[in-house]
Amino acid sequence: MIKPHGSDELNPLYIDDDEQRAALVKEAERLPSLLLNSAAAANAVMLGGGYFNPLTGYMNLADAMSVAETMRTSDGLFFPVPIVNMTDEEGIEVGDRIALRDPNVEGHPVLAIMNVAGLEKVTDEQIDFMAEKIFRTLDENHPGVATFKSLGRTIVSGPIDVLNFSYFQKDFPDTFRTAVQIREEIAANGWEKVVAFQTRNPMHRAHEELCRMAMEDLDADGILIHMLLGKLKPGDIPADVRDASIRKMVEVYFPPNTVMVTGYGFDMLYAGPREAVLHAVFRQNCGCTHLIVGRDHAGVGDYYGGFDAQTIFDEEVPADALELEIYRADHTAYSKKLGKVVMMKDAPDHEKEDFVLLSGTAVREMLGKGIAPPPEFSRPEVAKILSDYYQALDSKAS
Ligand code: ADX
Repeated sequence: MIKPHGSDELNPLYIDDDEQRAALVKEAERLPSLLLNSAAAANAVMLGGGYFNPLTGYMNLADAMSVAETMRTSDGLFFPVPIVNMTDEEGIEVGDRIALRDPNVEGHPVLAIMNVAGLEKVTDEQIDFMAEKIFRTLDENHPGVATFKSLGRTIVSGPIDVLNFSYFQKDFPDTFRTAVQIREEIAANGWEKVVAFQTRNPMHRAHEELCRMAMEDLDADGILIHMLLGKLKPGDIPADVRDASIRKMVEVYFPPNTVMVTGYGFDMLYAGPREAVLHAVFRQNCGCTHLIVGRDHAGVGDYYGGFDAQTIFDEEVPADALELEIYRADHTAYSKKLGKVVMMKDAPDHEKEDFVLLSGTAVREMLGKGIAPPPEFSRPEVAKILSDYYQALDSKAS
């Protein structure tokens, strides 16, 4: 199986041994606490699950700045996005052992224990420098920039032991998986070539066909549909609705034993190209050999060019940085002439009006107006689940 990123074995930071974990939970009761923000909590969940291998905790300022600028830590480890714990809380000192509390679960239970190795003030200039490198913009209307700039001005760095997976295990018991579990399932299935499909949307016809095309073109053994289960911007469709619609689509339209429907606990960054590279890193950690990167991958609004998330792999990711390869998907649309979904580059004789352009945004807009998406956009079974969700929203609002 493909090696994890940066090490021979996966090194998840979750304490798997029940006795050891129980002892740490007990110890945490008498430790000073730090209430995390959601971004830092999501980082802990990802570190716990082995997704951010080979990191052993939160980065310090030098690493965060270096990663933002060059996609390498000060020691030269390739990593596309700073993995940080930023706060405005006071009262912590270097050398402290502290309990990191979960902002997303009632009562703020302890999520992880940290040995504080560094506490560094971050200037506004440094925040802007990092934000600009990660998001390619400083526009505070960009949801990722707004979040990043609100995280706090002290970087708390150091190794962590993770004690649970926040709300993800309880809220998505059938879907949430760690990278460790995904590797195990891939091995149990006997799959070698595995394509990952990142998504934060219900899967429409374009998404579905991209998975099918990638499977066929790469002659893959299986596909990992891997949905984001963490926080999104307002208006995006909640994870439980996406989960239900994706499961239905796979059940009806894919051959059995070719698809794993799974999810991971991370908040969307909307960092476009940089997030695509992060996606590649953590899919390699899951044991996938390929990642589908299509149009406006992990983008928002008009901040990124349609295929910037592909060109970053040519222009900024060194050839030896990752073992996983990306599968480049061209803009995919429904051809009225052919009566099926195709990549636009594969239909060179088509005019613009021969296509129906498929996008999650277009489907959301239709649903918001009470219009069921047509079969060119959505499978009827998927459209039904989404329409029911929107109707329930409407009746709540009225
Ligand atoms: S994302 O933010 O998670 O990337 P989304 O769930 O919409 O958003 O997309 C999942 C994947 O499908 C991404 O790789 C994206 O580039 C790709 N994709 C979505 N729609 C299209 C399309 N019409 N043509 C080509 N690729 C697409």
